[in-house]
Amino acid sequence: MLRDRLEEIRMKLGVVGKGGVGKTTVAAVLARAYAGRGRRVVAIDTDSNPNLGVSLGLSLPETEAIPVLPRSLLVGPSGDTTAQELIDQYGRDTPAGVRLLSAIRVSQAGAGCTCGGHATVRSFLGEVLSEQADVTVVDMEAGLEHLSRSGGTLADADVLLVVMEPSRKSVITAARTRVLAEELGIPQTYGLGNKARLREDAEFFAELCAAHGVPLVGVLPYDPGVSEADRAGTAVASTGTGALRREVDRVIAYLDDLAVDGDGHEPVAGQRAPARPG
Ligand SMILES: Nc1ncnc2c1ncn2[C@@H]1O[C@H](COP(=O)(O)OP(=O)(O)OP(=O)(O)O)[C@@H](O)[C@H]1O
Ligand SMILES: [Mg+2]
Repeated sequence: MLRDRLEEIRMKLGVVGKGGVGKTTVAAVLARAYAGRGRRVVAIDTDSNPNLGVSLGLSLPETEAIPVLPRSLLVGPSGDTTAQELIDQYGRDTPAGVRLLSAIRVSQAGAGCTCGGHATVRSFLGEVLSEQADVTVVDMEAGLEHLSRSGGTLADADVLLVVMEPSRKSVITAARTRVLAEELGIPQTYGLGNKARLREDAEFFAELCAAHGVPLVGVLPYDPGVSEADRAGTAVASTGTGALRREVDRVIAYLDDLAVDGDGHEPVAGQRAPARPG
């Protein structure tokens, strides 16, 4: 029953957050995990210095050879192109089983504003259908400007995951992001802790997120395998302790429940956030 309903689910996830917190890593591990469950996954790299392809198992030259989506396209039956055409023409398959689109690349200094690339992604997200992808994961460039009303790249996302590292600033970024996302009409925004090394890191996320009104969907551990893969320029890999995979599985189960049943769940992070003091 649930399986039948899962097959009908279309989930569009935006992965956002402060610079360096792990957006690309999280986008890659989620996309790979969804693909491993048999879902058709499209991932979109919107970073002007794109590297999601490497995290999904492509070499750097292969990643750099992915054609960039044309700017300012109107996607849809009466527009310049359709979502299916974009996926077919500009997408590339990756060893992770994910179809990857590259939306923005600034290869020359002073190449100008990336707004046109963001406009194409916005239009694509508004049009992508369940026949084309069960799950669409957008790895966003750091910063909040693309959540502003004028930009609104992720206006058609169903869920925003704001990745945080154990720092006050990244949790505050998550709180600001949630406000902007609400203004844009994005239905769900969650904080996702990352790089937690100590038990105290998980508690830190729980306490600060509660204090700033950020629902915490999970806390991913720091995994040396992830940073080693980054240094080696290879696909995101965990060390095999299973901790990262288990938490990713819990986050996906939560998001699946959300997509099937709508709102009204408790966040999945093991540590329930204590009530705000005072
Ligand atoms: N759970 C983790 N365990 C260990 N290292 C991690 C983890 N998540 C991310 N990292 C490391 O942190 C660094 C930044 O990660 P990543 O590139 O995914 O961040 P980002 O938010 O996409 O950065 P940017 O803002 O530059 O796009 C990388 O070296 C990556 O390997
Ligand atoms: Mg990144």
